[in-house]
Amino acid sequence: ANKKLLMLPGDGIGPEVMREVSHILEWLDRRRIASFDIGQGLVGGASIDATGLPITPDVVDRAKNSDAVLFGAVGGPKWDKMGFDLRPEIAILTLRRELGLFANLRPATVLDPLIEASTLKPDIVRGLDIMIVREATGGIYFGEPRGIETLPDGQKRGINTEVYTTSEIERVARVAFDLARQRQGRVCSVEKANVMESGLLWRQTVTALGAAEYPDVALSHMYADNCAMQLVRNPRQFDVIVTGNLFGDLLSDLASMCTGSLGMLPSATLGAPDSSGRRLSLYEPIHGSAPDIAGQGIANPLAQTFSLAMLLRYSFDMKEEAALVEQACLAVLEQGLRTADIMQEGKTRVTTMEMGAAVMRE
Ligand code: NAI
Ligand code: MG
Repeated sequence: ANKKLLMLPGDGIGPEVMREVSHILEWLDRRRIASFDIGQGLVGGASIDATGLPITPDVVDRAKNSDAVLFGAVGGPKWDKMGFDLRPEIAILTLRRELGLFANLRPATVLDPLIEASTLKPDIVRGLDIMIVREATGGIYFGEPRGIETLPDGQKRGINTEVYTTSEIERVARVAFDLARQRQGRVCSVEKANVMESGLLWRQTVTALGAAEYPDVALSHMYADNCAMQLVRNPRQFDVIVTGNLFGDLLSDLASMCTGSLGMLPSATLGAPDSSGRRLSLYEPIHGSAPDIAGQGIANPLAQTFSLAMLLRYSFDMKEEAALVEQACLAVLEQGLRTADIMQEGKTRVTTMEMGAAVMRE
């Protein structure tokens, strides 16, 4: 059966960068390298304008019935005045919840032609290739009790609770261990077991799982504050990092700046496999809808293109095709083509469409 792919371009530059990616899918289809059933749907502000809702139940159902979702970006000033439940960002939160997407994969890769874009010295980041696996549906952002309460003396108290169960820890650790086997075979598990009970359970659980099921993967542990320091001091020591929701949020943003350009980085969010081994997954660039440059045709389509490569690799098991897409992106950068956001002296400035066309030629 054909693979089912749902494309949700969203708002701002989302549709602009998604259009370039759809050319790659059409090419794979035309060359009979792969056949896809491709659906399209509205999310975010585009959906609000058409239906009054940031995402409709129909789009959620279609996402559930797809093998993978390719998401653009949502949001923009036009919809900033909406109530909390009607913000465009509700679309992505709803998809994460409804599809059970618990493992957020955030690669931080430095490509040689863009090495000078890094905020760190070239010698420190040359060849950098880290995968951060962040638990995305548990931990302190969701734990109970939570809320703001008023104390007898009249002052208020804000409460959040970090909660992790062994099964939540095991399933995200499995994702990290499995990825390490396809990479350099190393996992660094990050928490604060020195001061947090949930961190202590995290460390014990990951250690036991590693010993029982992944003796071939080299497992190490690091406190989150030290990890932040090490990511800046010597980021190449890491292969796969696995961590909870809060620390993963911070560390993945930190790691992305080690690489330099927002317009280059993809991400994936994976769900739990069902009894038949099928798992729902969503792929998106880490950048947003970039309202400041939307409609100008100058957005960098490469983060969306790398998101497609991740989708091909992890959801469709098309490792060669994924590598082809990534190599094409690297080749156009080596030719000196640059969108405005990654422009460097002596390079050739191109538009979104020109960048997309160059990738297609490669
Ligand atoms: P942003 O990522 O949209 O933009 C930050 C800066 O980077 C801007 O100057 C933008 O022009 C530039 N930029 C981003 N992607 C680029 C690309 N592909 N090519 C060239 N330049 C690029 O983040 P910002 O400005 O904080 O948020 C804008 C809107 O996007 C907001 O409504 C926000 O809520 C939404 N957003 C949505 C996300 C999602 O859909 N998952 C993630 C982050 C933000
Ligand atoms: Mg963040």
